[in-house]
Amino acid sequence: MPAVVLCSALTACGGGSGGGASVPVAALPPAAGSSASTATPASPSTPLSLAAQVGARMFVDQTLSGSGKMSCATCHDPDSAYGPPNDLSVQLGGTQLNRSGTRAVPSLRYKDVTPPYADLLDNPDGISVPGPGGGFTWDGRAPTLAAQAQIPLLDPNEMANASAADVVARLQAGPYAGLFKQAFGADAFADTNAAFQNARNALQAYQLEDPSFHPYSSKFDLYAGNKIGGNLTVAEARGLKVFANPNTGNCASCHYQGAGLNGSSALFTDFSYEAIGVPRNTAIPANADPSHFDIGICGPLRTDHPPAPGNTFCGMFKAPTLRNVALRQSFFHNGVMHSLEQVIRFYNTRDTLPELWYPTVGGTPRATPDAGFPTYGLITTQYTGGTVKKYDDLPPTFVSNIDTQLPMDGRAAHSTPPMSEQDITDLICFLKTLTDGYKPPATAPTSGACIQ
Ligand code: HEC
Ligand code: HEC
Repeated sequence: MPAVVLCSALTACGGGSGGGASVPVAALPPAAGSSASTATPASPSTPLSLAAQVGARMFVDQTLSGSGKMSCATCHDPDSAYGPPNDLSVQLGGTQLNRSGTRAVPSLRYKDVTPPYADLLDNPDGISVPGPGGGFTWDGRAPTLAAQAQIPLLDPNEMANASAADVVARLQAGPYAGLFKQAFGADAFADTNAAFQNARNALQAYQLEDPSFHPYSSKFDLYAGNKIGGNLTVAEARGLKVFANPNTGNCASCHYQGAGLNGSSALFTDFSYEAIGVPRNTAIPANADPSHFDIGICGPLRTDHPPAPGNTFCGMFKAPTLRNVALRQSFFHNGVMHSLEQVIRFYNTRDTLPELWYPTVGGTPRATPDAGFPTYGLITTQYTGGTVKKYDDLPPTFVSNIDTQLPMDGRAAHSTPPMSEQDITDLICFLKTLTDGYKPPATAPTSGACIQ
């Protein structure tokens, strides 16, 4: 079942390519907007629990690492929506800060309502058939934020503590050991396992309670809540239609979840997993080994869905939230793309111009610059002859797991892609409305990018 059909409840559920369904005019909220007001998280004045206060200290505490120089905030930068502060595909960590990870750092915003992973999770749209969904990390292997926190603390490529006891000893020797005891009891350090569990609970409490992890302060939130300053510009409104239109962008079918779940506002993910064939990233050292493949749910980081032939989950990664996506400088689980435009052009031309994204084997390279060859892809040299090695980061036996929904519906090479140049520009404008911290200008501009 390669195509877990995930149509948005808010858009007509389009068929395959060229289905010709009419474009939904009222694409996404404000229809659901009235419930956006119920999404308001704990007000900034609500004091954090003692556990969350411990978590806040831990989150920025560099002494909780084998290097003594790395905290959660090093990779999950509060000024970058708790995503990476740089354009590296993957970050460096370890005791000498010279070991490369294998995956891009996700944002930690809006993770509070993520359900635990299930092979057959009901899709929040209430229409699509259940499929793999939920959980933390790109492959869903951590069921809770507390469980997740163990991964970076002990990962030799990340914070690289030798053991749980190491982490606990560092906490016990640190400046907020007293606060830890206040939160978890006078003998909180007596039992290492219990103390480590409480440390992870503290990080979870901080991420759940602190409003900075779910501010709902984007322009889209004003728009969805019918609030002053939330009028989308003409260009943004067109972009929203592309986002929702099942015959062009179709982004909403995987990246939208309407208001409702736990009273939250739209999260721009339905927590589902798909294999979309993101190209291999040669910048990741682990990929120097041609037999190494990161295939998401089937491992190697996740181990409970072994990559046996026929396993339909192999190659699937979580569809991440698109909130604050415009602040990112590297995209997808392996960080192989470095601009939103590149990502959208990949969606648009993975099938129609695969030679822009995957290596060509055989064939003769043409001279560069080559006026007939676009420069926005990962590959900038055109070949005469040869074969494009499509889906080069997936063992061939799992290629049948590739999702076939629009905008990547398997249409023929060199046929017309689903989105026009205008659609692409407009879609980027819309995605920028998902950035938190929006302050409406005193006077609405009448010209410039993303206006008309
Ligand atoms: C060296 C960089 C680095 C550090 C330091 C780091 N993380 Fe991460 N974080 C990552 C990467 C990479 C992933 C994705 C991992 C994966 O998919 O296997 C991730 C994933 C996560 C997720 C899951 C998000 C999601 O979308 O499901 C959470 C939550 C998280 N980290 C919290 C933390 C906390 C808490 C700390 C500190 C204890 C921390 N991280 C330290 C790199 C880092
Ligand atoms: C079939 C489901 C599906 C559709 C349709 C879809 N996406 Fe995605 N999207 C995913 C999955 C799955 C990933 C993660 C893939 C990976 O990293 O291997 C992803 C990742 C992304 C990312 C990277 C975000 C990050 O944090 O790195 C962006 C940006 C994105 N999608 C935008 C879009 C846009 C814009 C559209 C519409 C043109 C769209 N997606 C359509 C499933 C989908």
